[in-house]
Parts: sequence; C-alpha cells; structure tokens
Amino acid sequence: MQLEDVQCVTVLGAGNMGHGIAEVAALAGYDVSLRDINEEFVQDGYDGIEWSLGKLVEKNRIGEAEADAALDRVETFVDLEESLADADVVIEVVPEKMAIKTDVYEEVVEFAPEEAVFVTNTSSLSITELSEVTDRPERFCGMHFFNPPVRMDLVEVISGEHTSEETLELIEGLAESMDKTPVRVRKDSPGFIVNRILVPLMNEAAWIVESGDATIEAVDSTTKFDMGLPMGSFELADQVGIDVGFHVLEYMHEVLGDAYRPCPLLAEKVEEGNLGKKTGSGFYDYE
Ligand code: CAA
Repeated sequence: MQLEDVQCVTVLGAGNMGHGIAEVAALAGYDVSLRDINEEFVQDGYDGIEWSLGKLVEKNRIGEAEADAALDRVETFVDLEESLADADVVIEVVPEKMAIKTDVYEEVVEFAPEEAVFVTNTSSLSITELSEVTDRPERFCGMHFFNPPVRMDLVEVISGEHTSEETLELIEGLAESMDKTPVRVRKDSPGFIVNRILVPLMNEAAWIVESGDATIEAVDSTTKFDMGLPMGSFELADQVGIDVGFHVLEYMHEVLGDAYRPCPLLAEKVEEGNLGKKTGSGFYDYE
C-alpha cells in the first residue's frame, strides 16, 4: 500500500485519544470510520470531535468550513465488520490492556480488507506481541499520538520485530500528511521514548507529595516555572488520564523493574475513579 492509496482510516475506540485521532485524520482529508462497542461511547466520541473542532474555530486555528467538512468525513459505527469494510489503515485505540487489545485484533483480522495496514496507539505495550496475534505482522507497527492529539505535533512510529520498512515509511508519511512530526522508535521497549521519560516524572512528583515533602501546587509550580514544561506534572497526569499513566507505570514496573514502582497516590485516584479531566476530577477539580 502507498500513501496515495489511503482514503479511509478506521479508528477503533472513541475515547479521549480515539476521537482525537479520528479528528486529526478527518482534518487531514481522510474518510474516517469511528467505532466503539456501544452507541453511547461512539456518540460521546463524536460529540468530543464536534467540541474540539468548535474550539479550534473559536481560537482561529481553522475556519468554520474546514471544521464542518472534517465533521462530515466522520462516520460512526458500533458494528465492527461495517466499520472495517473500507479500511486502508486501522488505528486501534482500545484500552491499554494486552488482553483487550489481543481480543480486538482476533476479531479485526476476520473483517479487515486483506491489504489494510494495522497500527496501534498503545503507549507502552509490546508491538511485536500484538502484531503476532494478527495475520500481517510485517504490516503492523505502533503509531503513538499524544494528548490532545489535535494540538500535539509529535507521533512516535514504533517498529515491532516483524515490521517491514515499507510499513514504517507509509505510517511516517501518514503522520506527516496529518501535519505531525513522526519520530521513529527502532525497538519496542516499554514506554518507547516519551513515556519512558514523562511517566516516571509524573510518578516521582506523586512520590514527593505522598511522602509529605511538598504540595501538589508546589510541585506543579516547579515543573512549569523552572523546567519550562507547558503543564505541571499533576496537571499533565489529569490531562493524560491518571489511569493511563498508572497502567503504563505498572507495565514498566513489571518489565523494567523496581525503579518504576507506581506511587500509591496514583493507585488511590484510579481506585476512586478520579481519573483527571475526563471524569471531572483528578488531582484538580474541573467542574
Ligand atoms: N481540542 C481543541 N481545543 C482544546 C483541546 C482539544 N482537544 N484541549 C484543550 N483545548 C483548548 C482548551 O479548552 C483551551 O481553551 P479555553 O482557553 O477556551 O479554555 C485552549 O485549548 C488552550 O489552548 P491554548 O493554546 O490557549 O493553551 P496552551 O498554550 O496551554 O496549549 C496545550 C494547550 C497544547 C494542551 C499545552 O498545555 C500543552 O502542550 N500541554 C502538554 C500536553 C502534553 O504534554 N501532552 C502529552 C502527554 S503524554 C501522552 O499523551 C502520551 C501517553 O501515552 C500517556
């Protein structure tokens, strides 16, 4: 498959990242099939795209006609087979659990067109292991967007052990066509590049607060005003989803060892369901 052959992108999972990626693909001119497991999830995702496009118009980042055209390119589905009928590229953005992802791929291979290329937006899991569940491990790689996808320029393109050079080049081209800057990750180690650096930062910030050394606000001030990051560590955790960071850490802990042990403060937030902006409350309140 060549980049010029890509017309339809199917995005599996309409959550925070899924609908954000669907929006980016639609803004780039692709027909987008957005699929989730029930009407409510798909509708929430569609509403999220509409909200985001509205914000982009409000901030003069795009015109109203461009926003309307992008929204028109998005079709929503609950039926997996229908969502995959025209797929040239399938972007999987389902929850960050190996068992969930492998279950999805087992179904996807039944319905996806033979020539379609598969990519996963996993933030840390093994690309090789996921690719081996499919019938096309050489046409499978990681395509990792950042939150919020429509505002973040970077995309990690991660090679699995079986990924072909053509697939990596196609997906790098796809990212560029979406106005993103692809960075190639040659080997799929947990957390790739960005999360290997960013998630331990969030974890360390949580340990500082957990041990009573400083408040959340004090830690966030240092990250913003000394380190020059656009958000404090706790603001970022709320933006990304505390559960997302926590699951990445759990996996890094399991594979890379004790240095990545998740702080209990993160576990508590996950148990309470206070996951950040998406639930209205995390380390800060948003209601
Ligand atoms: N679409 C459109 N608009 C959005 C949006 C979205 N998805 N999300 C937020 N906005 C809006 C906000 O509502 C806000 O509007 P109001 O002022 O009306 O409330 C506006 O954008 C803020 O944008 P600005 O340009 O004014 O503000 P900013 O310069 O602070 O930029 C930002 C916002 C781009 C999010 C910036 O804060 C930033 O870069 N933050 C860091 C984000 C980051 O590092 N993400 C990566 C996390 S790691 C990850 O995602 C990977 C993983 O696997 C865990």
